[in-house]
Amino acid sequence: MSNIDLYIEKIEERISRALPELSPETDALREMLMYSLESGGKRIRPLLCLEFCAAAGGNIEKALDFACAVEFVHTYSLVHDDLPCMDNDDFRRGKPSSHKKFGEANALLCGDALLTHAFFLISNSALEGTVSAEQAVRASKELSLLSGMKGMIGGQYIDLKYENTPATLPVLMEMDTLKTAALIESACAMGLIAAGADECEISYARDFARELGIAFQIKDDLLEAEEDGESSDEKNGKVTYVSLFGMQKAGELASIHTANALSALDHFGSAADELRAIAKSLLSRKN
Ligand code: IPE
Ligand code: IPE
Ligand code: MG
Ligand code: MG
Repeated sequence: MSNIDLYIEKIEERISRALPELSPETDALREMLMYSLESGGKRIRPLLCLEFCAAAGGNIEKALDFACAVEFVHTYSLVHDDLPCMDNDDFRRGKPSSHKKFGEANALLCGDALLTHAFFLISNSALEGTVSAEQAVRASKELSLLSGMKGMIGGQYIDLKYENTPATLPVLMEMDTLKTAALIESACAMGLIAAGADECEISYARDFARELGIAFQIKDDLLEAEEDGESSDEKNGKVTYVSLFGMQKAGELASIHTANALSALDHFGSAADELRAIAKSLLSRKN
């Protein structure tokens, strides 16, 4: 029987109690953060974190804080990504985006609070004795590096730089590796760190995540292109796999990158069966 539903339940429970109680003056901030944290995200990154921990024989309870931390960083990235100065999207997951609901300045603060709290969760995990100090430092390094200049932020920079400017395939690959695959890589790596794995084992997860991340972003571009009316990408003059190659070729590319991701799982044998199922399901997802 698959553990996926159980892991998602654990992730939801951990996220629901991840924020501290605030004062009457700041309590509304908590509500704003919860609005974005609990608005129907698929929880792919935290799920991958727990699955890699399990695939390496670890106890997933040790990976839960790391899983929650990567979802916090992901949620912040989306709140900021939707802002008028970025993609200017009024909706996220079918609901008003954070700045539409609470105003631009509050959305900016929500993103900042989500980002900083992620690193609180990681350090606190060691202070509470769930993981060792060394594991928390290693996790912190993964998440900070791969969500920053050499990861997600670097990718978002390229994304904005090429608005209304033609980009080549290598540029697109670099952009998506940074803006999407890097955070997925941090999730997989942190799961293995929680399981006590070494860098050699983590390197297989990095290969998996980089390929899966590209496939994931191509699918995201395809889903957006399939929506009725002018898409956000079209409106903003974004270069995507769909704009470069068309829907059919983009779909084929997503399949190729998913197959590459599956090959990287060979190292883990049958312990990675749920990871295989997740990678395949992402290719046929509807949102
Ligand atoms: C959306 O990520 C942004 C991309 C990196 C493509 P997800 O599709 O994982 O977003 P949610 O959290 O499930 O809405
Ligand atoms: C989102 O990329 C990636 C990050 C927020 C890092 P997109 O702008 O392509 O994703 P959606 O379509 O808004 O979810
Ligand atoms: Mg964007
Ligand atoms: Mg966007």
